[in-house]
Amino acid sequence: MTDILRRGRLGATDDEVDAFLSSFGSDRRIFGADIDVGRAHVVALAECGIVSREDAAAILGALDEVEDEGFDALDDTHEDVHPAIEASVVEKVGEEVGGRLHTARSRNDEVATCVRIALRDELLGATRDFLALRSALVERGEETDDWLFSGYTHLQRAQPTTVGHHLLSYDAALERDFGRLLDAYDRLNECPLGSAAFAGTSFDIDRERTADLLGFDRPTRNSMDGVASRDFAVEAVSAALNAATTVSRLCEDLVLWSSHEFGIVEFDDAYASTSSIMPQKKNPDTAELARGKTGTVYGALTAIVTNLKGLPAAYNRDLQEATGHVWDAFDAARKSARVLAGALETAEFDREAARRTVEGGFVGATELADTLVRETGIAFRTAHHVVASVAKETDEPAVDDVREAFAEVTGEKLELDDETIERGLEPRGCVTSHDSYGAPGDDGVVDEARDRLKTDMDTLNSLEE
Ligand code: ARG
Repeated sequence: MTDILRRGRLGATDDEVDAFLSSFGSDRRIFGADIDVGRAHVVALAECGIVSREDAAAILGALDEVEDEGFDALDDTHEDVHPAIEASVVEKVGEEVGGRLHTARSRNDEVATCVRIALRDELLGATRDFLALRSALVERGEETDDWLFSGYTHLQRAQPTTVGHHLLSYDAALERDFGRLLDAYDRLNECPLGSAAFAGTSFDIDRERTADLLGFDRPTRNSMDGVASRDFAVEAVSAALNAATTVSRLCEDLVLWSSHEFGIVEFDDAYASTSSIMPQKKNPDTAELARGKTGTVYGALTAIVTNLKGLPAAYNRDLQEATGHVWDAFDAARKSARVLAGALETAEFDREAARRTVEGGFVGATELADTLVRETGIAFRTAHHVVASVAKETDEPAVDDVREAFAEVTGEKLELDDETIERGLEPRGCVTSHDSYGAPGDDGVVDEARDRLKTDMDTLNSLEE
């Protein structure tokens, strides 16, 4: 084995520089992909008459062996996984045969293809993880669909809703995240193999064939773009980032809800920790870490786009540094989704504690104003003045407080029976009357969430096939 294949180096080398140049550590992620790329490439070379069928068969056999021996059996003094695999093939079948594997390709199209293949798996895996989280949300959302709860804006009690409606709001957001992950998959699924260094090749190769063998929809259309672009990684990580942001917001709610002040949720012991000094504490650490790991995803995207922004066409070694951030982003986002799904499935929700949030705080204020508009015909702004004047006096108003404020603001007597006024004040009535499409009182919210989850699961299943 020549030193050129070993390290791509020109002369004397230095250990620290070798380590600096090496991507061997993170190349574990593309080991399987690189074996597959080798297989597809050599099959197509044989079909195109560029390599004999016997040589191709021997190389395929050697690739099988390399795969069986695994990543850890490779010689890690190579600069990256690509020459390490080639060297191992050459070792097994000799340079006269194995040395033909790298005909009509370059590490540049090789690595771009490998990253797309591995990232494709990450994208599908991520959609599966986020679907598991949605499934937990729908499950717990259905269970708590009629549990009274205050909704908050500015973290102030705002209007009555239900715990279920609140949980299902995250499912609705994650449905869009699912769509974004699949959109990224769509554009990513083109094959750069055959772009070679950037200028293609004079060998009569069949790029359609290798694209097809590797499960891509089509070859990338420009050989320079094929090796130079990583926008597919930006797009995939952005989709993961959006999903992670949704998860992080959910985590924030769960952390608040597990405080003594809310007391609405208690994580199962497996998903919580205690304090090294305050033994009474049960901390929602899994939700906090999922929230924290979202920062890792943001950092990864920032690192990737910063890496890319100043690169001239075509391949530049900087790209190697971008790849690791892609895996970091997906690791963080996917782990968070999986752990949080488990935390939600096993958490205990407290119906009584949720209901307490609609006591006091006058959360029926908006509905009372709406009732006055509907029943008396006054303008909403006037009704707002009436209810504001009630709210100034008390946060648990009685019917007479409303009558008084009405007379004071409008100069007229409120011609409305007690029962109707009470309905406007009472949280349950507020929720059931809010039955516009998608609102907490809409009976169809849970069913629609279930249907949409099922549709997305079917989509993913057929894509994976
Ligand atoms: N390890 C490299 C990467 O991740 C592989 C491509 C190397 N190509 C080159 N011309 N040095 O990008």
